[in-house]
Amino acid sequence: MKTIALMTSGGDAPGMNACVRAVVRSALSSSLRVKGIKRAYLGLVNGDFIELDARSVGGIIQRGGTILQTQRYPEFADVKRQREALRQLNSAGVEGLVVIGGEGSMNGALALHRHGFPVIGVPASIDNDIYGTDMALGVDTALNTIIESMDKLRDTASSHQRAFIVETMGRHSGYLALTAGIIAGAEVILIPELDQTAEDVFAAVSDAYVRGKTHAIVVVAEGAKLSAHTLQETLDKMDSGFNFRVTILGHIQRGGRPTAADRLLAARLGVAAVERLLAGERGVMVGQQGNEIISVPLEEVCANKRRVELEYIRMAKMLAK
Ligand code: F6P
Repeated sequence: MKTIALMTSGGDAPGMNACVRAVVRSALSSSLRVKGIKRAYLGLVNGDFIELDARSVGGIIQRGGTILQTQRYPEFADVKRQREALRQLNSAGVEGLVVIGGEGSMNGALALHRHGFPVIGVPASIDNDIYGTDMALGVDTALNTIIESMDKLRDTASSHQRAFIVETMGRHSGYLALTAGIIAGAEVILIPELDQTAEDVFAAVSDAYVRGKTHAIVVVAEGAKLSAHTLQETLDKMDSGFNFRVTILGHIQRGGRPTAADRLLAARLGVAAVERLLAGERGVMVGQQGNEIISVPLEEVCANKRRVELEYIRMAKMLAK
């Protein structure tokens, strides 16, 4: 193998740049040429390659976003586009591909693998919903962004004896909401995986009021069955003792300098992706389980969903006392 390519794909995640740097520099140290693909699968289909050398990935380890840019491109499910991608890879002399991205991106990688192209995936998504890895790139940074905001909200909430409903990202997964709920001390956590009612929230919040709490925090995942605003409207009509305010954290959670944990994970996964590609591993995603870097077949990654820690609901309730 003489030339590999890499892309960042799907929603951006802090740590993508650090991982691009790790892939490029570890590939160069094995005397490989590296081509970056701009704007993920769309750029691949259009043959949008750039040559990457050691200097072109200098000064990016600390930057959020991705210098390669990214794109959601569900059209890549079309076999004609996959064939065009293979044609572009072959005509650019690329013999192996590293895809850094989320669930949808791993599906694209699996499609190329099924066509016989050597590909390795690296999990990156703040949602942490990718099967086969304990942590995906960007999750730790997003959680740190969330708790910083929630700590600030708590200051104003307790000054006014208010309750805050905070919406985290995660349209299909409650991971961020659940974890944020524990580490920021929420009374209630609402996630897409469970059927929860406004009455459940009312009971927890009014109980907190009776116990003399000066504030209450309710975390709602973006994809929860009850939206933050619907919940506010319903709760404002009930007498829990608190006034409710809504804060939607939104895309703030996707940006920012990657934390130490994300940078380390980026380095370990990026190096592993290149070394395993060179060692002949095909059609796998590298991931972290415990403290080990492991490889999981993309077939398995794409056929499953990472389960959330439902235990955190019970813990949050207990710890909010
Ligand atoms: O998958 C990551 C994520 O940030 C989700 O949490 C969120 O629902 C989605 O992306 C938003 O996507 P977009 O930035 O394309 O609107």
